[in-house]
Amino acid sequence: MNRSTSYVHDYLQNFRLPSQDGQTTLTAAKETQCDLLHIQDVECCRYIGEFWTARQRQASKLQEISYRACFKPQLPRFFITLLTEPDDVIYDPFAGRGTTPLEAALLGRLVISNDINPLSRILTEARLSPPAYEDIRARLYAIPDLNSVSCEMDLSMFYHPDTLRTLCSLRAYILEREEKEKCDMTDRWIRMVATNRLSGHSPGFFSVYTLPPNQAVSPERQITINQDRSQTPPYRDVREIILKKTRSLLQGISEKQKENLAKVAPSSLFLIKDARDTPEILDNTVSLTVTSPPFLDIVQYAADNWLRCWFNGLDAELIGKKISTTRKLTDWEGIMQDVFRELFRITRPGGYVAFEVGEVRNGSVRLDEHVIPLGISAGFSCTAVIINQQDFTKTANIWGVNNMSTGTNTNRIVLFYKEKSG
Ligand SMILES: C[S@@+](CC[C@H](N)C(=O)[O-])C[C@H]1O[C@@H](n2cnc3c(N)ncnc32)[C@H](O)[C@@H]1O
Repeated sequence: MNRSTSYVHDYLQNFRLPSQDGQTTLTAAKETQCDLLHIQDVECCRYIGEFWTARQRQASKLQEISYRACFKPQLPRFFITLLTEPDDVIYDPFAGRGTTPLEAALLGRLVISNDINPLSRILTEARLSPPAYEDIRARLYAIPDLNSVSCEMDLSMFYHPDTLRTLCSLRAYILEREEKEKCDMTDRWIRMVATNRLSGHSPGFFSVYTLPPNQAVSPERQITINQDRSQTPPYRDVREIILKKTRSLLQGISEKQKENLAKVAPSSLFLIKDARDTPEILDNTVSLTVTSPPFLDIVQYAADNWLRCWFNGLDAELIGKKISTTRKLTDWEGIMQDVFRELFRITRPGGYVAFEVGEVRNGSVRLDEHVIPLGISAGFSCTAVIINQQDFTKTANIWGVNNMSTGTNTNRIVLFYKEKSG
């Protein structure tokens, strides 16, 4: 389907968020606000409204996997339902935990997912093909605890010895299956859930109290935390924790969503590439890209992800070097310019790119305004800047620079269009 840009403008202008009872919300405060942005010699409409919220139809539980800087599933859902139909191809070049690919698959769209971080595929692929709960349970209890298994490093500051034995046995099993190319969807599911339960601050995780799962601390720091809190790692039942999280993830998937996942998953493409160079994706094939790029900061990738990488036999230092991080805006623009050229090549005429840039450096850098010329120079036209703002009362003067620093629930998306003649 090709939604025309005039349809999109009408839709955004007249948008009313459905309320809990299904009626539209008609208060003046909720009406879309519009103005015109002038960037270089380009004029672009900017729409500010409450286009999606957390309470607007709850997201699928299957999305509830933590990942740094992930967006809410409501964001890709808004663009997927507005701009595409079942069987259209949806892409995310910076997929992270896989919010866009999973939402697309739940809605029956075809999926291409890419991220330079191999953990992204590990977290995403398994949730597109959820196995039956009983199969997961049977597999978990069929993997024996090995007495002689090597963990390859001292993790006793995080885990009780019996927890560690199970965890390392599970790890050895998965790595061996992977090496022999025997990993099936049940193995992948177990690996995905275990990767998410490695460390955290509640008994829902395998570890003693520590930082949340996407911010692992070093073993040395954990020893200090244990001393400060007078704690020693308690026993945690790895299998039961995996099963509990599995029940939660699988809760409430509708029959239609199951059908969509079963239809879409076999043809889904998962890439672990630099977003600037994805020759596996054919020219003019993608209907819609919904993505948020790495932002202007230096993410301590190896420090945050060493534990997840250890479990999956990945080299955190090497991955950290490949991930695009930059402090300088001009360097960031250079990388994104190449990403846009690649997106233009693969987007089909009449297709869209929704590029989410969030609030950067407390709103002092308006990345949306820097992104517009990049998309245009790659060949796209800029349809609109869309700002999802959940609380109008706090940000009545939303165009003022100072106000940008207050908006914590703001998403800023630049929507690009590939002309049919392009
Ligand atoms: C802001 S996060 C995306 C989060 C995602 N929207 C989600 O909901 O989970 C940016 C992602 O870009 C990835 N990344 C960084 N540099 C990359 C590159 N050059 N090519 C592909 N992916 C890259 C990072 O690994 C990270 O997962």
